Amino acid sequence: MWPTAELHIHIEGTIESDLLVRLARRNDIALPTYDPDELTARYVFADLQSFLDIHYSNLTVLRTEQDFYELGLGYLNRAAQAGVRRAEIFFDPQTHVGNGVPFADVIGGLSAAIAEGERTLGVSADLLLSFLRDRGPEAAEEIFRTAMPFRDKFIGVALDSTEVGYPPSLFTDVYAMAAAEGLHRVAHAGEEGGPDYVREALDLLGVERIDHGNRALEDPELVARLRDERIPLTVCPLSNVALRTAPADLSEHPLRTMLDEGLVVSINSDDPAYFGGYIDENFRAVTEALGLTRGQQATLAYNSFESAFLEPGVRQVYL
Ligand code: HPA
Ligand code: ZN
Repeated sequence: MWPTAELHIHIEGTIESDLLVRLARRNDIALPTYDPDELTARYVFADLQSFLDIHYSNLTVLRTEQDFYELGLGYLNRAAQAGVRRAEIFFDPQTHVGNGVPFADVIGGLSAAIAEGERTLGVSADLLLSFLRDRGPEAAEEIFRTAMPFRDKFIGVALDSTEVGYPPSLFTDVYAMAAAEGLHRVAHAGEEGGPDYVREALDLLGVERIDHGNRALEDPELVARLRDERIPLTVCPLSNVALRTAPADLSEHPLRTMLDEGLVVSINSDDPAYFGGYIDENFRAVTEALGLTRGQQATLAYNSFESAFLEPGVRQVYL
């Protein structure tokens, strides 16, 4: 197992069915069934939206600071077993605030989990506040203002949820606000949206990494730019298969082309409670399906630390 950084992980997407059931009972929230295996068996998706519908519905079980603490620490424990030494974790506060949970409880529980994970597991972790693109730019600016009193508890901003129809250009102002605060910037692009979404994220939002980026391969000029500027792509192989944004046969996954093109790609798990594997399982699956050499595996692990938001002196310790 390779030591790695995980850079594309939605904390809400790590809610395993047994935790889901435990929280639903504790908070008196109705679920379609209280059998964890039956819940997991329902996780069959046609596309990104069909996943998001179930995902957001499940998140109503998260009510208290303690819930967020348990969610965060559950992920960090599993990630440590998978060889993760550094995690940069998305959280979607608009979902929780919309469900009536105070922002302070969301970030308080997650921050406490991160402090505990650093102390007891030796995993370094930070939070990236992710905007829900389908709620639009004004809602993004509103949650950003809500988050500002907690500016020291997250290191950057991100953009997720329904991609097509919600291009990066909508979010230029809120990303400029984040840049003015010295925050890091990333965005999902090229998962279902085309290469123009990737270009917009780079040119209009000033992102430092692209989350997914698979469809950038459709545009050779963009591929050359990603390579020449060493712009990282955080790729999620099992997610792509589960959401049908890549061929069902992993041996046809675009990771092969990305590596051949010399792009700075890393392996990540996205929403592992739903897509059938944590980062170690993603790593193992692509290694087998694509027949990756040890050199290619090492490149993927190395890229993850090169792509992480670490100070130069700290990065050297990992590299
Ligand atoms: N894509 C977009 N939004 C998301 C995802 C994803 O893979 N996971 C959770 N929210
Ligand atoms: Zn994602």
